[in-house]
Amino acid sequence: MPKIRTNLINPISPDRAEFLADHVIAYDDGVISALRPYDLTLDRDAESALDCMALPGFIDLHVHLSQYRARGRFEPALLPWLEKHIFPAEALSAHTDYALEIAKDFFRALFAAGTTTTVIYTAPFRQACQAAFEVAEELGARALIGMTLMDRNSPDALLHDTSYAYENSVALRERWHDRSTLLDYIFTPRFAPTCSTELMELIGEYASAQSAFIQSHLSENKDEIAWVKELFGKASYTQVYADLGILGPHTIMGHAIHLSEEEIAILAETQTAIAHCPDSNFFLKSGEFPYQRLWDAGLRIGLGSDVGAGTTLSMPHHAQMANYRQSACPLTPPRLLWHLTMASAAILGWQDRIGSLELGKDADLCVFRIPDGHSLDAGLLSSLFFYGAEFKTCRCIVRGRTVYSQD
Ligand code: GUN
Ligand code: ZN
Repeated sequence: MPKIRTNLINPISPDRAEFLADHVIAYDDGVISALRPYDLTLDRDAESALDCMALPGFIDLHVHLSQYRARGRFEPALLPWLEKHIFPAEALSAHTDYALEIAKDFFRALFAAGTTTTVIYTAPFRQACQAAFEVAEELGARALIGMTLMDRNSPDALLHDTSYAYENSVALRERWHDRSTLLDYIFTPRFAPTCSTELMELIGEYASAQSAFIQSHLSENKDEIAWVKELFGKASYTQVYADLGILGPHTIMGHAIHLSEEEIAILAETQTAIAHCPDSNFFLKSGEFPYQRLWDAGLRIGLGSDVGAGTTLSMPHHAQMANYRQSACPLTPPRLLWHLTMASAAILGWQDRIGSLELGKDADLCVFRIPDGHSLDAGLLSSLFFYGAEFKTCRCIVRGRTVYSQD
């Protein structure tokens, strides 16, 4: 039974995180079986990591695997960025060998950043999505993975017909849905401009009948919103998805920046969850996320790296960006941790399994080395978020399996 003696940081509520100095965390068969202050009589056998701190593994609620090697390609607006940099990068994953290689790089980098759970868009090819699942399974990741769907207004290299998009999504879900406790499928219509109404209706119907997850993008950029208006002529972007049956408690919408009060009310009423992607929002000059309005409306919010518009898989970096990129609303370190862990776990329906370090929950942990000379106190969480690059990841564990280790 692995047992580690270290310092723990745990989310308690949106306004509180606890710091537990010199504790022992043990796990058995992937599940946390002991968590207590270090006890000389019981815990002599513990591996000592007192110069480290452990947190629940981070959850990245929105990330594009096939864009991993196309990060940081600057373009000051979403639509030209997609055309110039992203669509060509995603087209490379039409080759299975490439899709497998990039998936390996991607999951290894996630673990090295302390991320244990990820909600992933792959390139719009069945075998690229299949490759991502196989690599995730082999390396031990916890993830929801979906094949990005594009059946109109897309470059030829990525465009598929409606039946390819729908039937392969269903086939991938049937293959992966009940196969492992760590993996599941998520239907992934890219965004309204590249998906036909027929495709979105089919996805909405299937997903609601099966309580399956859906992810997409909503109201990220003003030109995108104008395009949606031109294509659908509806009262709002959110209304387009609502009318097509895409919204609901198992739907995660990325971005959600430029929203009217009516749109926020629709999202709240349908219990749609939001993936906030602060780094990406500023990289592409999309705008400032209306955190306070969405929080006050009771929306469930997690954080997404949105790689490749996000520049790194490091979730402490995205926590820092979420703080820096609110001009009037201070997001405190406990609140950022809450969104990175418990809030996202609850969005995925996994709040009893992951999101905090508790007896009986799965052993999903990230362990960071504390920089020399740093005092051992509750301020460590703030330091991790604001100068995270100096905290080296020493261990990442998913359901008891060490998926990354560095001395
Ligand atoms: N909207 C549609 N596709 C994408 C994408 O790949 N990245 C981002 N940031 N927004 C999108
Ligand atoms: Zn995205």
